[in-house]
Amino acid sequence: MHQTGAMTVPAEHRQVMIASLPQGRLEPSDFAVRTAAVPVPGEGEVLCRTIALTIGAGQRAGLQGSASYAGAPEAGRVMGGTGVAEVMTAAGGLLPGDVVWAPTGWQEYSMHAPKVLTKLDPTIDAAEHLGVLGTNGLTAYFGVRDVGAVQAGDTMVVSAAAGSVGHIAGQIGTILGARVVGIVGSADKARLLTERLGFAAALDRRSSDFRADFKAATPDRIDVYFDNTGGDLLESALFRMNRGGRIACCGVVSQYDTNNPAGGPRGVPGLLINNRVRMEGFLVFDFAHRYDEARAQMSTWMREGRLTALVTEYQGLASAPQAFVDLLAGTTTGTTVVRL
Ligand SMILES: NC(=O)c1ccc[n+]([C@@H]2O[C@H](COP(=O)([O-])OP(=O)(O)OC[C@H]3O[C@@H](n4cnc5c(N)ncnc54)[C@H](OP(=O)(O)O)[C@@H]3O)[C@@H](O)[C@H]2O)c1
Repeated sequence: MHQTGAMTVPAEHRQVMIASLPQGRLEPSDFAVRTAAVPVPGEGEVLCRTIALTIGAGQRAGLQGSASYAGAPEAGRVMGGTGVAEVMTAAGGLLPGDVVWAPTGWQEYSMHAPKVLTKLDPTIDAAEHLGVLGTNGLTAYFGVRDVGAVQAGDTMVVSAAAGSVGHIAGQIGTILGARVVGIVGSADKARLLTERLGFAAALDRRSSDFRADFKAATPDRIDVYFDNTGGDLLESALFRMNRGGRIACCGVVSQYDTNNPAGGPRGVPGLLINNRVRMEGFLVFDFAHRYDEARAQMSTWMREGRLTALVTEYQGLASAPQAFVDLLAGTTTGTTVVRL
């Protein structure tokens, strides 16, 4: 134990290490929990205690080495990730007790330069900061509004629609006046979307009737496809796009949990040309200058009861590997959060 101002810090803490880079599907055994000394901050450094972490599908792409923007994790390192943390030591205008976003990684304590930390409203729950007001909520907001350019009366389709990005993207589409169709991996999730989140229709991608269901649910074809998955679902959507349609390429989760990602879909570029479809990839960081606008708008929609943020919570640092496996298997809904 040592004292940092008013805060007491233990001598040791726990970390989740990458034990081995996954071969094939991710397993909890690809990670290992270890105990290490809590770092002692030097001049101008901020020691943070992790309150909660979020896990996103894109972190699996990072372990594959395919998402260059996500960095290149290696065996023997602490698993990376974003968390909400409590400041333990003063520096750079931050004071002990402040609550911040931090690139904490999967560990109980982490040390940072003040410039990588963002001070947060401590009255808002960490899960909200990490979900709808965090990277995934912002991704949904800009992907639907700016990249998809959704207009009232459009038919919008979202894949991985009960997931963290997907459930917010679909609700924003509805708020903007689109008829939103979600694609998910089970009938239960499909019911959640239509009964609780206001989706016009929702389809189980695993159903043997999926092709027919997809056609029936998009009688006016598709104006905007918000693509979280790539793969077969992207190909199915490509064949149903309207003239002048937009495909917002957000992620490729169908190709993350494998060592052998499939090639691209049929229909590119022929269908894009014939139907004058715009297919555009984007990264949320491109919109960093407008994050405040997005957070203010989504907070208003939540207050008005028009936007519901779902969270699947796990308790304790050691549950993070299983939470990650569950997320990729599709057993979580909304944002996946681990509370420490
Ligand atoms: N462009 C950006 O800046 C940006 C930023 C953040 C996230 N993303 C992307 O957004 C997407 C969603 O991320 P998230 O963190 O919100 O994850 P998530 O949607 O909460 O979880 C992933 C979901 O993917 C679905 N899935 C898994 N394997 C699949 C497969 N083979 N085919 C189709 N669907 C499959 C599962 O849902 P079902 O089983 O219900 O289908 C699962 O729930 C990811 O592609 C991620 O890379 C992009």
